[in-house]
Amino acid sequence: MTTAAKTRSRAAGRSSAGQASEADASRRAFADGARFYLQQTPRQLPSRFLYDALGSALFDAICHLPWYRITRGERRLLVRHAREIGRALGAGGRVVELGCGNGEKLATLLTHAGVRHPRAHLIDLSGSALQHAARALEGLDVRVTTHHGTYDEGLLALPPEPAHPTLLAFLGSNIGNFDPPGASALLGVMRGALRPGDALLLGADLVKPERDLLLAYADPLGLTAAFNKNLLVRLNTELGADFGLDGFTHRAVWNRKASRVEMHLVSRRTQAVAVPGAGLRFTLAAGETIWTESSYKYQPEDIRRLAEAGAFVQRKQWIDDEARFALTLFEAS
Ligand code: TRP
Repeated sequence: MTTAAKTRSRAAGRSSAGQASEADASRRAFADGARFYLQQTPRQLPSRFLYDALGSALFDAICHLPWYRITRGERRLLVRHAREIGRALGAGGRVVELGCGNGEKLATLLTHAGVRHPRAHLIDLSGSALQHAARALEGLDVRVTTHHGTYDEGLLALPPEPAHPTLLAFLGSNIGNFDPPGASALLGVMRGALRPGDALLLGADLVKPERDLLLAYADPLGLTAAFNKNLLVRLNTELGADFGLDGFTHRAVWNRKASRVEMHLVSRRTQAVAVPGAGLRFTLAAGETIWTESSYKYQPEDIRRLAEAGAFVQRKQWIDDEARFALTLFEAS
């Protein structure tokens, strides 16, 4: 039995009490986050709450949209440069992926890398994503371990690996969802989990024309709007809130100065809302927004600067011109 299969059967065999306490813990974290962030000015909800089972499925669908080019651009780079990336891993090495999502990025890399018997350690906040990822890697010559938790928790819980190199993969444009101080801090935690000579593979989306950015984050089919509004569905179903979905509009804004696309839920009218599970009651003014996500866009040399400030040295940078997306390979110094 492969470890991937073991992970699955363990999940399937988990007691219903265990599942209930996991759901309780996730609801409590959501309630705490909603209580704190919805009272900030401007009101906010952290983007990690986007990825429940439905949100993860909607995001997978977004990755197929013609206007969202990140996933395909990165896939082209992973296929083209897999052998060279695989050399950073060596035989018996391990890949650690933060935010593995459905596992397709890593499956693409390992399929083309030609590395023998690698091990994969997957870290994700979403239990359903971990199950999909373990399944996506089934049938490849890889032993999979999963860690359900935040990036920081997963990195701190990483077992030491004295005998083989580690390749830490942080793909998609996940780094883009951190503000600059947050990105630097996360790179510090990543570096702390690695030894000199280990590698970091970092995906990052590049600055491109505003029109392309807005089409990627406010698509004409309305999938991104549904993905964003799913946060309101979660507030209703998990925390007993009473948001009317027709009372909100999805809006993406390119903030050129901060180099980020901001995602908002805009209140279409003045409305009183209640989130009983978070002990909250407030009034939203017409046009007031709940800020749900930022996606920072980089210049190629910003990516180098960011990682080199955190004790990494750039080894290679590949750019997909069609998607304007960069994959950068660093070595821990
Ligand atoms: N990490 C993805 C990105 O920044 C997440 C994402 C894509 C997203 N589309 C979104 C988040 C729309 C919120 C709303 O590209």
